[in-house]
Amino acid sequence: MKGFVPTPRATVDEMVELLFRGRQPGEDNALLDPGCGTGEFIDGVIRWCESRRVAVPRITGIEADPRHLPALRARFERQPGVRIKHADFLADDRTTYDYIIGNPPYVPITELSEAEKARYRARYTTARGRFDLYLLFFEEALRRLAPGGRLVFITPEKYLYVETAGPLRDLLARRQVEEIRLLREDTFGELVTYPTITVLCQQPPGATRIVRRDGTTATVKLPRGRHSWLPVVEGEASQRAAVTLGDLCLRLSCGVATGADGVFVRAAGDLDPALRPFAYPTIAGRELTPATTDLTPRCAMLIPYDADGRLLPLERLGGLRHYLLRDEVRHRLLSRTCVKRKPWYAFHETPLLRDILRPKILCKDIGETPRFWVDRRGEIVPRHSVYYIVPRDPTALDAIVGYLRSQAAHDWLTRNCQRASKGYLRLQSRVLQRLPVPLDVAHVAAAWQPVARADAAVLQAALPFEHRA
Ligand SMILES: C[S@@+](CC[C@H](N)C(=O)[O-])C[C@H]1O[C@@H](n2cnc3c(N)ncnc32)[C@H](O)[C@@H]1O
Repeated sequence: MKGFVPTPRATVDEMVELLFRGRQPGEDNALLDPGCGTGEFIDGVIRWCESRRVAVPRITGIEADPRHLPALRARFERQPGVRIKHADFLADDRTTYDYIIGNPPYVPITELSEAEKARYRARYTTARGRFDLYLLFFEEALRRLAPGGRLVFITPEKYLYVETAGPLRDLLARRQVEEIRLLREDTFGELVTYPTITVLCQQPPGATRIVRRDGTTATVKLPRGRHSWLPVVEGEASQRAAVTLGDLCLRLSCGVATGADGVFVRAAGDLDPALRPFAYPTIAGRELTPATTDLTPRCAMLIPYDADGRLLPLERLGGLRHYLLRDEVRHRLLSRTCVKRKPWYAFHETPLLRDILRPKILCKDIGETPRFWVDRRGEIVPRHSVYYIVPRDPTALDAIVGYLRSQAAHDWLTRNCQRASKGYLRLQSRVLQRLPVPLDVAHVAAAWQPVARADAAVLQAALPFEHRA
């Protein structure tokens, strides 16, 4: 079933309370539950009205999955004001409603067919990048909400800050977002990460009430446009740091994606001596565990590039050329889709060894909690599952990693990073760039000005295994 996650009764009741707060429904009002599943919200609305002896509004439930319909229709057959429509909510329909309440489906773009993606992209401004169906449900609901009408949705909190949801934030911020309520993570068991209730009124924007997970509340003004709402939701707008991690770093990026680690990453121990001139110590995210103190990579990455990211011609690759030309290796490399656009032995992404082979800080792209390791000698080439942070001033390495390991940095990252399943944090470079750095740390790293790219020390560092001291 596409995106079926039923809403627990206590959450349904909380949302219905918000829907009718200060504006009791009448029997002439129209109410919509798009993607009504088994009818939890319809039941909740009827329960609310009956317990207060208030007329039940005209309710429409729209559900696309035929498997829900028999039970759904049976559940409300004695309710004359309830109409169940077997339809696609994301299709053309101009009917408007005074109230819309629901839990839209969470369906990532990867689960949509090519035809669906094309249709949605043509119809919705929110269908941009790697969109999720719940963004489109928001947009469609805004089209169907009558002037002055109220909408209450429960969705993942991600729409508050992910780049993909920028167009949705732009649409929402043109209206009155009355309240954003961040719910406990276990609201849906393990099914939905960081659920959030959004209450919106179809009228010009004003102040927004925020209810945070720790119970604190605030009244804020949401930024117009596509900006992330996280700083205002988390209450950090007034304490924005003058200096961020991005200001102190020459590079803050995801490690090298070869596009064929099975070919380019080999055990360092029994490496053919003919390959050693092109072999660099490398580390993957899974090798970085809380117990890892000694960064001694067990593997080497064979890199057919020079320090500036130029792919070396085959005739300059010596023993690596023979290895790459072996039938099974060549065949494996040719089967990659990325080689339609580049030479057959190129990496998926160009490695810039001049920047990578510097003293740096490493962290995993995803983890239970943010942790940081130091490659003091600057000899490790991180793989795609590892982020690397290169201070502009190498002498500031310890001050920066000391701060990254502090409680203050940990708290900020926990609040600002995206969450993967099980509450794991995704440390994206975009977020790390924005990490505020206290001025004392920033002063230690005083040499923020861009370093000369061709300095001798760096060139020395950009040499493979066998040429190092
Ligand atoms: C997250 S579930 C919520 C179900 C129910 N509203 C609840 O909260 O218990 C989303 C529902 O949307 C339905 N759905 C998915 N795509 C739909 C579409 N394009 N039109 C209508 N319903 C859809 C799914 O079948 C699923 O029942």
